[in-house]
Amino acid sequence: MLKISNLSKSFFVSKQEVNVLSNINLMIKNNETVALKGPSGSGKTTLLNLISGIDSVSSGKITFENYDITSMNESSLSKFRRDHLGIIFQFFNLIDDLSVMENVMLPLSLTELELDKKVYLAEKVLKSLELHHKADIRTNLLSGGESQRVAIARALVTRPRLIIADEPTGNLDKNNTDTTIHLLLQSCKENQTSLVMVSHDETLMKRFDNVYELNSGRII
Ligand SMILES: Nc1ncnc2c1ncn2[C@@H]1O[C@H](COP(=O)(O)OP(=O)(O)O)[C@@H](O)[C@H]1O
Ligand SMILES: [Mg+2]
Repeated sequence: MLKISNLSKSFFVSKQEVNVLSNINLMIKNNETVALKGPSGSGKTTLLNLISGIDSVSSGKITFENYDITSMNESSLSKFRRDHLGIIFQFFNLIDDLSVMENVMLPLSLTELELDKKVYLAEKVLKSLELHHKADIRTNLLSGGESQRVAIARALVTRPRLIIADEPTGNLDKNNTDTTIHLLLQSCKENQTSLVMVSHDETLMKRFDNVYELNSGRII
């Protein structure tokens, strides 16, 4: 379970303190899917960066199960991300010189699994995202929707406990958005993975277990 308590975050811009998140309290249960909405600049990306430990809080606490994300050092944080977290970005961040299969297997290269097992896990996740037939294609030949599904497969392949996704359908048309979100939510439920997804798209909200709205750095 992810627990965010009394979280605040400020940035310093030319020595001026700019408060971006104020007193955020949020609990996300195991296997729960959560959408985070709010206007541009309301602090959504900042909140995700704090959850993943990419950025550090100004005050407050974030825990995930037994891990206190807000007090871990850089090397524990990278291990935590590798072992428990999947991250999906708006711009897919795939490696174009590699095939779909190779992109999806990348996070497994950091594990000590046998090659057979890595291939098995990658094939399984490609199947669940309806990408199996594209396994050997280089990712620069894919459509936007397919590329984002590869990025999702890459985030899911390590079977993380939590996925965070920042506007993952921001670049997709409606059809691709619907398919992508359907497959993402279905895969999270199958793998018992929690999901925190930032989205502007009101039509997607009803598919999530819970929706939270940020406005001027506060949950409303
Ligand atoms: N590294 C930073 N330094 C200074 N200000 C930042 C930094 N990152 C984000 N901000 C500011 O914090 C606010 C929230 O940004 P962000 O979390 O990206 O919003 P959202 O994702 O909801 O659009 C914005 O006003 C943005 O300019
Ligand atoms: Mg953002």
